[in-house]
Amino acid sequence: MGTRTRILSLILGLLFVGCMDDANKTPNPEKAAEEAINKQVAEIMSGLTLDDKVGEMTQFAIDMLSVGEPYDLEKPHQLDPEKLQKVLVDLKVGSILNVGGYAYTREHWHEIMTTIKEYTDKKESKIPVLYGIDAIHGTNYTIGATLYPQQAGLAATWNPQLVEELGKITAYETRASYIPWTFSPVCDLGRDARWPRLWEGFGEDPLLASDMAVALVNGFQGEDPSDKYQVAACLKHYLGYSRPLTGMDRTQAWIPERQLREYFLPSFKAAVDAGALTIMINSGDMNGIPTHIDKYVLTDILRGELGFKGLAVTDWEDIKYLFTRHRVAKDHKEAIAMAINAGVDMSMVPNDIEFPTLLKECVEEGLVPMSRINESVERILRVKVQLGLFEEMFHDPADYPDFNSEEFENLAYLGAVESLVLAKNEDNALPLSRESNILVTGPTANSMIPLNGGWTFTWQGNEEQYFAEDDMTILEALQEKLGDKRVRYVEGTTYDEAVNIQAATTAARSADAVVVCIGEFSYTEYVGNLNDLNLPQAQQELVKAVAAAGKPVILVVTEGRPRIIRDIEGLADGVLLSLYPGNQGGKAIASVLFGDENPSGKLPYTYPQAANALIPYDYRGTDKYSIDIEEQGLAPQYPFGHGLSYTSFEYGDISLSADSLSANGEITVSIDVTNTGSRGGKEVVQLYTADLVASIAPSVRRLRGFEKVQLKPGESKTVSFSLTPRDLAFVGRQNKWQTEPGQFEVYIADKSATFDFKSENLIFFK
Ligand code: BGC
Repeated sequence: MGTRTRILSLILGLLFVGCMDDANKTPNPEKAAEEAINKQVAEIMSGLTLDDKVGEMTQFAIDMLSVGEPYDLEKPHQLDPEKLQKVLVDLKVGSILNVGGYAYTREHWHEIMTTIKEYTDKKESKIPVLYGIDAIHGTNYTIGATLYPQQAGLAATWNPQLVEELGKITAYETRASYIPWTFSPVCDLGRDARWPRLWEGFGEDPLLASDMAVALVNGFQGEDPSDKYQVAACLKHYLGYSRPLTGMDRTQAWIPERQLREYFLPSFKAAVDAGALTIMINSGDMNGIPTHIDKYVLTDILRGELGFKGLAVTDWEDIKYLFTRHRVAKDHKEAIAMAINAGVDMSMVPNDIEFPTLLKECVEEGLVPMSRINESVERILRVKVQLGLFEEMFHDPADYPDFNSEEFENLAYLGAVESLVLAKNEDNALPLSRESNILVTGPTANSMIPLNGGWTFTWQGNEEQYFAEDDMTILEALQEKLGDKRVRYVEGTTYDEAVNIQAATTAARSADAVVVCIGEFSYTEYVGNLNDLNLPQAQQELVKAVAAAGKPVILVVTEGRPRIIRDIEGLADGVLLSLYPGNQGGKAIASVLFGDENPSGKLPYTYPQAANALIPYDYRGTDKYSIDIEEQGLAPQYPFGHGLSYTSFEYGDISLSADSLSANGEITVSIDVTNTGSRGGKEVVQLYTADLVASIAPSVRRLRGFEKVQLKPGESKTVSFSLTPRDLAFVGRQNKWQTEPGQFEVYIADKSATFDFKSENLIFFK
């Protein structure tokens, strides 16, 4: 226990006296902690002026404190004393974000924070700044930080315990960079392969996404977010951001409330229940209403139903967009009033000096009630208190000996290995023999960028110079494993243009196997918008050309969303999917290709076969109850949950603890799984159910539970899941969760069983 935690326990101990549970006179530590926070917040609030309050509700980009113009800072990045005085002291701005286009060393971050503190100490309230960054797969704006898989890759591990451990690395290294707040996790469901931020989320299923979001929140915040090794999480982008009609970033979404509640809300709810301290709002508009003015979503659902007590921050410049883009407000001031009244607490302005002044005018002119301001400022201060910023805004540099440690690197490597999905392995083409001479070709073979994706050192993640010397590309890792002589490299193509395809084909003829590294580089937000989900033609030509040499072809597809590979997949003997596995990705891929590691990743989304067949796994029309999808070319290239291993697993029959489930009961579903192959491996046991008849056309099947088990050769384990009526619920016509009596089918792997849910009436759930 650290000194701070000990002091906190002491204070809480003293407070227990007044916080006994009346019924049994036992101390209630949670209530005591809550009261201590409320008391501290009330004390701070009592001394604040309106200027202090509007300042607290303002978040500026670091550009506003720096020499140069926003988006065009002078190098090397430098803080400007006049701007520091104006922003932090005169305007009393309470939150700063981001990095202005560069990655920094820890020392530079320290300098920034020390300078900021120097200025916040000059204002009367002395309220510390809450600094936030997008530390989304490690502390990705600090040079030397440990970078593990992006969220899609984390979801592909189907291993929440591992994800929580990785989240702890982010917390540790972000605090080691003196920053207490990360804009992560993304809780948006990835149900459209075209969406350029698919890789930033946990895939298409609400249960998988919920469990993973909770794991990251727990890893980030731990038991006590004020601990010097924990940070505040920020759930984003609430709500309905990920399903725009066009598939393009920040374009309109039309999501019926029933679907919103059944698919898009649960991951946010789970993460709120896990205690996430902050949330970021969707930049788009849903059903014609920009989320930033949607009181129903921001207040009624978020506060009323979900009981969220933390702070809600806008996304980038979104209040201003209410009049410049969405056109629901006539000017900036009206936009501010609409957003704040709907429930926004803090505006990520980020580069417009006039926000706090306009917000103050809104209050003075009666456009925003003071009660709304006080509510938001209290929420902001609560987070600052919960993060311990009033005691120590940042900690001693020497407190972080594990920054960039081998231990963290090993964990990131484990995460990378478990994130890799072996999608195809015809005639056990993989693992490759260590004696083989291989040709490595393709645009993603020799770059760190396609292993990491966006938000890596910079927003778009496309600056090679920040990667460390010893970070290995796929090619370098293969060379290290086999020795240079055994590995021939021909680039073949860039992302979308042929370079020397003929040379690759010639080289393929004298190789024992060809590893073709294809896919995408890095992008995020609108930069990643696509007009065609097909893999670029040049890359497809390369695969066709090298395949003509007649040697075994292994595709390593490194990408942020499933690009269509239908025309070349059949030419490959093996396909390994890599969902931005991070800095250890090259090493992990080489280890899997040569059998030093046994793959265990499973797809967190459906891999479509055709660009017109973007169908998540649970849609009706994707199994035996419906039309023949094979005939229509709608079958997925690889289904949700798919992923092979170098060993084989066999499942026994499903056994149910009863043949029916009652309204207050539960039913246990058990199955034996055996490793029938010759090497150890991990298998994800996935439980699905289908509601056979329902008042609303039911999903074909839904994931209701999963567990990743490790089995030695010959070893068996019994895996059990317990199902209650709540686990079978769907959102019905009244937009409420409900379970109806009737028959249900349970599926695990290729096994199934049936039970009845017996109840006189349908039952509703929260
Ligand atoms: C993105 C957010 C991000 C924010 C701050 C926005 O453009 O949509 O995901 O957290 O910028 O960098």
